[in-house]
Amino acid sequence: MFVSAAPVEIAFDTEEERIVRVGTTVRRPMTAASPSVHALLAHLEAVGFDGAPRALGIDGQDREILTFVDGETATRPLPVWAVSDETLAGLARLLRRFHDAAESFVPPPDAVWEQGSQADESPELVGHCDVTPENVVFRPGPSGRPVPYALIDFDLARPTTRLFDVVTTLRHWAPIADPIDRDPRQRGLDVGPRLRLFCDAYGLAVRDRLRLVDTARTRLGRSYVATRTRALTLGGDWARRWAEGAGERIRRAGAWLDAHEDELRRHLVEGA
Ligand SMILES: Nc1ncnc2c1ncn2[C@@H]1O[C@H](COP(=O)(O)OP(=O)(O)OP(=O)(O)O)[C@@H](O)[C@H]1O
Ligand SMILES: [Mg+2]
Repeated sequence: MFVSAAPVEIAFDTEEERIVRVGTTVRRPMTAASPSVHALLAHLEAVGFDGAPRALGIDGQDREILTFVDGETATRPLPVWAVSDETLAGLARLLRRFHDAAESFVPPPDAVWEQGSQADESPELVGHCDVTPENVVFRPGPSGRPVPYALIDFDLARPTTRLFDVVTTLRHWAPIADPIDRDPRQRGLDVGPRLRLFCDAYGLAVRDRLRLVDTARTRLGRSYVATRTRALTLGGDWARRWAEGAGERIRRAGAWLDAHEDELRRHLVEGA
């Protein structure tokens, strides 16, 4: 007798258990931007970039089907390896390879991208825009220690600049944050040298290094407005995050940036 069993769905440890693993695939709810993201993922595959999931289609429950990228993501509190200089440099190299692969992507004429943030002037490419510790898959490198291998969760991808994507990544990983808001193992990090390390490993142009602090300030300002607007208009999780101090954390990051501006600028450009 032939017995057909429903495929086993394993929920990832996310807030609403909306994202599940089914065998070698991941199923995620579609968003208005998903078809455009799938076009980006197809482009990345076509140009041979392997640091992103492949889009395989849409299932019977209107969920996108992506390849499951084997490895581990850093969960909080962050492990020691997630805050190392080696990891930061590896992440910069991964982001650079992604940007170089994404640069030749021509979005479909009817492309729709995430709408919550203000559009960037003179975009250079479609960036990831959400490179958080939860959105990077690591695999053991030659030394046995985890190495950044792939970016996942392209929901916030949109036309932007290399520098803007670099700044967003540094916000989470350098991190650009007041020490009281950092994950415990990030508290003692010396951020100036880490910004420099990231820029060197990425190969960021000097003109972009000169604008990095100002761009970080712009980004924090936009994030404050976008988070507040979402809290007021969408409620739910956004309102809860706002009530729990999301806005204050962004403003504290801005104040920390102002207080350390001279020192950060010095590290970014000295001898560059
Ligand atoms: N393609 C994939 N390969 C491997 N792991 C994945 C993949 N997609 C998602 N995951 C795992 O599921 C977690 C959550 O998925 P994802 O980042 O795509 O969603 P999210 O929108 O951030 O979810 P939430 O907002 O509910 O936290 C990731 O941190 C990762 O551990
Ligand atoms: Mg995510």
